[in-house]
Amino acid sequence: MEILIRDSLESGAKVGARVVKKIIKSNNRTVLGLATGDTPLRMYHELIRMNESGELSFKNCTTFNLDEYVGLSREDERSYFYYMMSNLFGHVDIDKKNVYLPDGNAEDLREACRKYEQQIKDAGGIDLQVLGIGGNGHIGFNEPTGSFTSRTWVKILSEQTIQDNSMYFDKQEEVPRHVVTMGIATIMESRHCLLLANGAKKADAIRKMIEGPISASCPASILQMHPRVTIVLDEEAAYLLTFKDHYKWVEKNKLDWQQF
Ligand code: GLP
Repeated sequence: MEILIRDSLESGAKVGARVVKKIIKSNNRTVLGLATGDTPLRMYHELIRMNESGELSFKNCTTFNLDEYVGLSREDERSYFYYMMSNLFGHVDIDKKNVYLPDGNAEDLREACRKYEQQIKDAGGIDLQVLGIGGNGHIGFNEPTGSFTSRTWVKILSEQTIQDNSMYFDKQEEVPRHVVTMGIATIMESRHCLLLANGAKKADAIRKMIEGPISASCPASILQMHPRVTIVLDEEAAYLLTFKDHYKWVEKNKLDWQQF
């Protein structure tokens, strides 16, 4: 795992954006996997800035989002579709027909999940998957103890995640209990993962993910088995890491072509 620790949220977001830029520039067509939540917002701002300044185009990109709530329409401000339109897609030159999110409103959810997996396959697989992490170690909406071999499917949120995400809703009871999420196996098939995390409330999950045993109790720990993972942390999210100084040492000694 490549671990990059930054002392400000701004510089972390810029590193993340440079990773995305490098991948887009090195492919004729790029398939991006994208995430929602508070964490990637600054990186999306930076990508919008790059797009506006002509530094980066999304014209040759196809995107697949990690997850979506069941039962929220695309027009609902709390849906991830709405989030993506207002925080990224609505501001960059991406062709909207190449934008995919799981359909949490499908009449046949099971069929919609199978179709989503097929669409990712048909697009040639994901070149770069952007990830956040839940306070309980979830990636996408793959909650602790879920199978490492899971595929895009309907999942039930844990009570902790419902509580964590209730800030985006008027009342906790309004948070949908059901979601559609890419599975762990789907995420693991992406060619490169970029995981971002900020703040002390992520520190425990980050420690378990990077330095703990690989266990479904911390779904993100499976990333230890992924061949290419870049993790961008702020100091607070990194503060429980035993080998923090080593990660900084490794970064300082990277060869030019290894840097973002
Ligand atoms: C959400 C999403 C995840 C996200 C995580 C962290 O529930 N399903 O994809 O990475 O929880 O969110 P935040 O960045 O707001 O802390």
